[in-house]
Amino acid sequence: MTIRASNSLNNWDWELRETGVFVLLSDMKIIVFGATGKIGSLLVPELIEAGHGVVAYVRSAEKGASLKRCGADLHVADLEAPIDLGALAGVDACIFTAGSGSATGKDKTLTIDLWGAIKTVRACEQAGVRRYIMVSALKASDPDRGAEGIRPYLVAKHAADALLMASSLDYTILRPGRLTDEPGSGQVAAGPSLENYDGAISRANVARALQVCLEMPGTIGKTYELLDGPTSITAAFGSS
Ligand SMILES: NC(=O)c1ccc[n+]([C@@H]2O[C@H](COP(=O)([O-])OP(=O)(O)OC[C@H]3O[C@@H](n4cnc5c(N)ncnc54)[C@H](OP(=O)(O)O)[C@@H]3O)[C@@H](O)[C@H]2O)c1
Repeated sequence: MTIRASNSLNNWDWELRETGVFVLLSDMKIIVFGATGKIGSLLVPELIEAGHGVVAYVRSAEKGASLKRCGADLHVADLEAPIDLGALAGVDACIFTAGSGSATGKDKTLTIDLWGAIKTVRACEQAGVRRYIMVSALKASDPDRGAEGIRPYLVAKHAADALLMASSLDYTILRPGRLTDEPGSGQVAAGPSLENYDGAISRANVARALQVCLEMPGTIGKTYELLDGPTSITAAFGSS
């Protein structure tokens, strides 16, 4: 049995599959912060391939050129500046996968991983973008469990996640473990609290998980720790 339904507020169509999982049918316009990053560069072409429109919020037009060639609209701006609300016009959903990286200091951890993320949450609220998916990090639930060197980063992720959870947005938070550049296996472990606190996951699997979450409204309001694992990505989010 298949049931279709429309959300008149957002003009989205959903389908209830026999597995009991709701899947999004309509194409969305999605803004991606961190689009030129390693996860973003995998994610944006996948979203476009799936029929979605993408606004790639990038700080360098040169770095965004390949995203533009594959069909994304570039919005060139730095996350350390105020968010340009004009970039959010007509946008249905936001994915935050930006990050200051390990080569920068704690000042950038504050201005990008914490304040940059908070600014995008507030901008989405102001612009009426209801759906928001955050790439956080494993151990962000309890930064004291992280090694001393990455604790400030985990604190930034924890605080940004907390602000998102307290917002009015339809959020999903993904907390991946150590990222690798292995090919995507399509298989993960996902749940509110995984036992393995030191595992890894390929960026390709994270990119795929972001798209699956976007298209599954059952993931709204949930936080998932995420590692490479034994379960297909669709099943991992459909069953939890
Ligand atoms: N590394 C790990 O093991 C790990 C583990 C868990 C979670 N994460 C999280 O995973 C996410 C993405 O990882 P990744 O490997 O794709 O990272 P990445 O390749 O370093 O990409 C980071 C992105 O953020 C953008 N960015 C940085 N500063 C910016 C600024 N001031 N204004 C605008 N954009 C800015 C970068 O732009 P440019 O291309 O212009 O530099 C890039 O697009 C991050 O949120 C990270 O915290 C990482």
